[in-house]
Amino acid sequence: MSSSPLNFITLITILIPILRLPTAVTSDARATLAGNLTCGTGRATTVSFIPTFVQAMEKLSTNLNNSNNNFATTNITDPNLPPFYALIQCHRDLSKTDCLVCYAVSRTAVPGCLPRTSGRIFLDGCFVRYDNYSFFQEDVDPLTDTRNCNSSLGGVKNENWDDFEGGFGGFNRSVFELVDNVTKLAIENGGFRVLEGDRVYGLGQCWESLSKDECRVCLNKAKNEVIGCLPSREGRSMNAGCFLRYSTHKFFNNGDQADGGTSGLSSPGAKVAVVLAAVAFVMISSFAGYAAYIRISKIREERKNMGMLSSSFNKSGLKYKYETLEKATNYFDISNKLGQGGAGSVFKGTLPNGDVVAVKRLFFNTRQWVDEFFNEVNLISAIQHKNLVKLLACSIEGPESLLVYEFVPNKSLDHFLFNKDRVLILSWEQRMEVIRGTAEGLVYLHQGCHVRIIHRDIKSSNILLDKDFSPKIADFGLVRTFGADRSHLTTGIAGTLGYMAPEYIVRGQLTEKADVFSFGVVVLEIASGKRNNAFVEDTGSLLQTVWKLYKEGVVSEAIDPLLKGEFPEDEALEVLQIGLLCTQASAALRPSMAEVVEFLTTKPENRQNPIPIPHQPPFLNARSLMSQGMGSSTSSPLTKVGLSYTNTSQSSTTPSSEWPLRIDELSSS
Ligand SMILES: *[C@@H]1O[C@H](CO)[C@@H](O)[C@H](O)[C@H]1NC(C)=O
Ligand SMILES: *[C@@H]1O[C@H](CO)[C@@H](O)[C@H](O)[C@H]1NC(C)=O
Ligand SMILES: *[C@@H]1O[C@H](CO)[C@@H](O)[C@H](O)[C@H]1NC(C)=O
Ligand SMILES: *[C@@H]1O[C@H](CO)[C@@H](O)[C@H](O)[C@H]1NC(C)=O
Ligand SMILES: *[C@@H]1O[C@H](CO)[C@@H](O)[C@H](O)[C@H]1NC(C)=O
Ligand SMILES: *[C@@H]1O[C@H](CO)[C@@H](O)[C@H](O)[C@H]1NC(C)=O
Ligand SMILES: *[C@@H]1O[C@H](CO)[C@@H](O)[C@H](O)[C@H]1NC(C)=O
Repeated sequence: MSSSPLNFITLITILIPILRLPTAVTSDARATLAGNLTCGTGRATTVSFIPTFVQAMEKLSTNLNNSNNNFATTNITDPNLPPFYALIQCHRDLSKTDCLVCYAVSRTAVPGCLPRTSGRIFLDGCFVRYDNYSFFQEDVDPLTDTRNCNSSLGGVKNENWDDFEGGFGGFNRSVFELVDNVTKLAIENGGFRVLEGDRVYGLGQCWESLSKDECRVCLNKAKNEVIGCLPSREGRSMNAGCFLRYSTHKFFNNGDQADGGTSGLSSPGAKVAVVLAAVAFVMISSFAGYAAYIRISKIREERKNMGMLSSSFNKSGLKYKYETLEKATNYFDISNKLGQGGAGSVFKGTLPNGDVVAVKRLFFNTRQWVDEFFNEVNLISAIQHKNLVKLLACSIEGPESLLVYEFVPNKSLDHFLFNKDRVLILSWEQRMEVIRGTAEGLVYLHQGCHVRIIHRDIKSSNILLDKDFSPKIADFGLVRTFGADRSHLTTGIAGTLGYMAPEYIVRGQLTEKADVFSFGVVVLEIASGKRNNAFVEDTGSLLQTVWKLYKEGVVSEAIDPLLKGEFPEDEALEVLQIGLLCTQASAALRPSMAEVVEFLTTKPENRQNPIPIPHQPPFLNARSLMSQGMGSSTSSPLTKVGLSYTNTSQSSTTPSSEWPLRIDELSSS
């Protein structure tokens, strides 16, 4: 078994602030991480796995909405599709609304396992699993059953137990008794029970698909495991078929709410949950590229247009034999690995003629995939610009598809900006060069060539620096085909969220202005030397910080202190201004990349018009995803996962008509 804690944790960091609002809401979706995202080892062999996944998760959503016991399963047994089974179980004390919220959160996390054919996740309020066989009645599984004894409540053996009568011994007894009782009662009570003991609280939940005997096996094992968490003040046991938890704080809702029908889908909370799920769906499906299916017609169209290119590509000897590339990379030796790119791993290779290249080993390699891919290659091989990483060749005949790129000697921009132990600090002039070059590369992608290409994933790690530190944008074009790639699914949603334009995140609207937004974030990162960690709650996002300093007129404080003041103030002000213009919340207010290049390359005295002043605070961070002005009722579940944007800036500017985005608009679109 392997897991991707990193990606998941990023994601949870994003989601938790959204879900945990300081409100008077009594119930809690408990959409917090209880255990790691755990992925199986089997890998999907066909590209149709991704659409199957998306389709099944959507079906699961519908089934859960229609269920009255916080439980749903789905399965796909079409012989033409990969077998797929999925299950969602919310703890029965969650209201339906909270259950839908918990599922929505899990659902954005689970794709982190793709392209693996199985994955599971335990949140504190629900469990989601998918696999390639029917596992609904599995009770225990020694390979994956885990417990989590980590507790923010403490519980070290020799700490002060004065708050418990009888000290640690008393606590120990109390937990033993509670866990024992809650296990028994849950088994007798149809698989679920919460219980309040002597200052300890417990919850046991078997999946509804388990028989009473299976439930007994599972909970008894869980009981023995969770006891091992003592003296921790909190313990969770997570087995294939059940969940058991004790804690010194009350974490559950009283009673069994699943049947209570507390809120139908007409309630705002449920709406929000559905919207959240819909958002997740939009995101997953846009990333999980229906490319192979939906775009076929489009690609056919392009194929027509590309016919000439295609043949020139074929004629120009841009193809290499697989064996040649295999040898060039010393059989993909790990020591030659340069990194993990958008669509696969990248290796350094030396061709027989001595040329050094970067060879990308693509993830999916079915014939059908290759067919789509080849058209894409023809398309992007025609794109050549000094600020774009050049595609030199490809190989599609061997056992897997390979792409050959020019080798860019330096590392990616993020290494030079954020690495703690960096030896080389980019000077202001070098930074300006990177900004200008990146902008020019983007203008070319957006309008310089015969096809319009939106990069979608501009970020500092996608900007490579050559030996003269001039920038080269990597991974363009491929996203069109390789949206299904795992790293795009995970980092596309999580890691890169800090770069994604709000309208893209929320509505899946993709225009060049989404790239402009991401570019703006990169500009601010370059100028400030700080990563746009959009989801660090306390410090706030970089955009927010820069916006504030800009408003207050203390520009020099926003610039990377490592430059030690060695930069022209006027230029620095302009750069920040451009960064902020590009990250304005309204796409319409953002300049085009061509305008940006004009700002950057025209001397102030030669400008006909000054660079506009950014008027809208930028899209701030996950917190600004939360509602502040939405409705007055703080107890509304809406405020729990409010997906609205608000101007958090005091200097209230008039929002454009599309701003702030309202939740009801979202649900109707
Ligand atoms: C499910 O995946 C595992 C691991 O890849 C594989 O061994 C097994 O044969 C698959 N089962 C089915 C029914 O496809
Ligand atoms: C959920 O179920 C309700 C009726 O129970 C229905 O009106 C609503 O459209 C459903 N929503 C989804 C997203 O399936
Ligand atoms: C799969 O789904 C069908 C209906 O969609 C259902 O009849 C069948 O019982 C399901 N199989 C399992 C193993 O749950
Ligand atoms: C989650 O993963 C981390 C790192 O791999 C590990 O230390 C930790 O024990 C895991 N937690 C659980 C509950 O499995
Ligand atoms: C333990 O949990 C606390 C909060 O519940 C968290 O801050 C901390 O990082 C966790 N530690 C580990 C090792 O997971
Ligand atoms: C906790 O209580 C159990 C059962 O009463 C006992 O077996 C165990 O030794 C106790 N543990 C400690 C550390 O006191
Ligand atoms: C557990 O069950 C025993 C026997 O039924 C009972 O005496 C005790 O009060 C229960 N403890 C808790 C915490 O429910």
